[in-house]
Amino acid sequence: MAAATTVGPPLWLLAELTYRCPLHCVFCSNPVDYAAHASELSTEEWKKIFREARALGAVQLGLSGGEPLLRDDLEELVAEARALGFYTNLITSGVGLTEARARALKDAGLDHIQLSFQDSTKELNDFLSSTRTFELKQKVAATIKSLGYPMVMNCVLHRYNLPHVGRIIEMAEQIGADYLELANTQYYGWAWLNRQALMPAPDDLIAAEKIVDEHKARLAGRMKIFWVSPDYVDAKPKPCMAGWGAVFMVVAPDGLALPCHSARMFESSGMQFPNLRHDSVAAAWHESEAFNRYRGTAWMSETCRSCDQHEIDHAGCRCQAFLVTGDATATDPVCPKSPDRGLIDAVLAQASQPVATEHPLRFVPGAGKAGALWFRTDVNSR
Ligand code: FES
Repeated sequence: MAAATTVGPPLWLLAELTYRCPLHCVFCSNPVDYAAHASELSTEEWKKIFREARALGAVQLGLSGGEPLLRDDLEELVAEARALGFYTNLITSGVGLTEARARALKDAGLDHIQLSFQDSTKELNDFLSSTRTFELKQKVAATIKSLGYPMVMNCVLHRYNLPHVGRIIEMAEQIGADYLELANTQYYGWAWLNRQALMPAPDDLIAAEKIVDEHKARLAGRMKIFWVSPDYVDAKPKPCMAGWGAVFMVVAPDGLALPCHSARMFESSGMQFPNLRHDSVAAAWHESEAFNRYRGTAWMSETCRSCDQHEIDHAGCRCQAFLVTGDATATDPVCPKSPDRGLIDAVLAQASQPVATEHPLRFVPGAGKAGALWFRTDVNSR
């Protein structure tokens, strides 16, 4: 495919250093078959990618996973990124972030840390991540603050912790977060498999957003709170990744270059992604068919092309269109103009029903009930 001449640089590079993770979160956006992609890039291969991306104009580098702290070379990679002039942020569960390691990363030039919590209660935090990590995360937060890092606290919201949203905000305040991201679950990866179990009732989301707005007003000037739109309920397509192949490049642990975290699933429908083990970042970004596929407007449905919002929302999310409708070129089904909006409304109608007593939340594909992690609904009432 011809190079897209109007495309700017991949300003935001997200390096998914590994799919390995000590946590097993029920809403994880990693591919559900992550164990099949075992071959991780070497230190030198990552450095080559950083150099090429920086030369192309990338300015921000996210170090993510899985759990990036499982890479022994993390400090070396941070030092390389700093030398190249990247602004770096570590996106972590906190597991493995000892004080010594946090200091070493600071010395290497790490700019910023995003720490995830699953809830404001130990019981639900530990259950949802399938680990005993709540107290550890509190200690890690104190370490991050003591070393002077700017800190984002991230918490993914769903029907089980949504009733705790006020307490989650208070906890962020107590640990000294500079910024709190309340990330309403986006339904990809494991969250897609568990969508019905995780989806809150629309009325509960509306009530939670009101609580969030009250805290935002109370904390203005002290802590920023970002409420990630629950787009099924808001019925507003998100400008996903600011547009496919517009500013964002994800590099998977095995070197696959992707326009977003979830795009790997398109391999099953024949899309071929460049691999930065042997392809250059510039070739992947400008010349690959995968990155060019949904740039511009020519691929859009008539519904989107004729809509005055299409330069703003870029027709929404390609992964969501594919997962819900089976057609990646479809109008994002959360949009009221989408002919498929009924599929979303049906999910919301079911979410309004009283919760069943048990749900499987995370499981080993193919292992059936024996491989499932079962959620007891009394956990979140404690
Ligand atoms: Fe892939 Fe939105 S998550 S385009």
